[in-house]
Amino acid sequence: MRYFIGNWKMFGVPKSIGILNKINNFVQKDKKRQKYKVIVAPPFTLLDSFSKYSNNKPVSISSQNCYLKDGYSSNTGAISAFMIKALKTKYVIVGHSDNRKEGDSNLILKNKVIHALKNNLKVIFCIGENNKQKSANQTFSVLKKQLYESLSSKFNANNIIVAYEPIWSIGTGKIPQDNELIKTINYVKKILYSIFKTRKTIPVLYGGSVDSRSIKLFKDINEIDGFLIGGASKSSKNFIDIIKNYYR
Ligand code: PGA
Repeated sequence: MRYFIGNWKMFGVPKSIGILNKINNFVQKDKKRQKYKVIVAPPFTLLDSFSKYSNNKPVSISSQNCYLKDGYSSNTGAISAFMIKALKTKYVIVGHSDNRKEGDSNLILKNKVIHALKNNLKVIFCIGENNKQKSANQTFSVLKKQLYESLSSKFNANNIIVAYEPIWSIGTGKIPQDNELIKTINYVKKILYSIFKTRKTIPVLYGGSVDSRSIKLFKDINEIDGFLIGGASKSSKNFIDIIKNYYR
C-alpha cells in the first residue's frame, strides 16, 4: 500500500473543491486504485465541506495541524483535535516543519499527537533535518530526537504514519540521493521499531519537491511507503500525474 498525500498549506477557497472532485474521479476509475490511498489536506476553512464531500469517496481528508490542547479552551484562533474529528475528518498532519519553525517543540508535538490519537484521528507525523544539520552529519541524531521525544510506545501504532521531509528539499527542487534516502528511511524504520516494538510496520513516507517528474526517481525505492506532496498537490493534473507516473 502506498500513500499519496496532498498538503495544500495556505491554499484554497470553497470553489477549490473542484480540484478534489477531479482527483476523486481519477481514483474512482483507476484500475490500480487498490494499490494506494489518496489523502488531501486543505486548510481548516475547507475541512467541513471537503470532509462531507468525501464521505463514501476514495480520497480521504486530513487537517494540516491541530492545537496543543484538546476539547474547548480560551485560545483565540485555535482548533482542537476534538473539533476536527467532529467534522468527520480522518487524518491530521502533526509536526510539519512550517509549524516547527513557528515554535512547535517536540513536547508540544507530543501533546498534539496524544490529542489526535485520543480523538481517533490518524496522525501523519513529519520529521526532517535542515541544511545545516545535514552538513554537520546530524541527520540521524535529529530524526531520532524528533521521534523519541514526540512518540511513545503507549501510542497506537496503527494510527501513525511518519513522513520524512528533509527541510532543505521542501519547495526547493532538491531531492536526496537514492542511497542516502534509503539509508535514512531504513534508519527511521529502525527507530520506530525500537519505540513501538511492533511487527506491523509504521508506514514511512517521503516529502520534499515530489512532482510528476521527480516521482520517477522514487519508483524503485521499495522502502518508501508513499509521499507527502506540497506544491504539486494544488493542481489536480499535477497530482494525478504523480500517481500515474509512479505506476507507469
Ligand atoms: P513540496 O512540500 O512538495 O512543495 O516540496 C512538501 C511539504 O512541505 O509537505
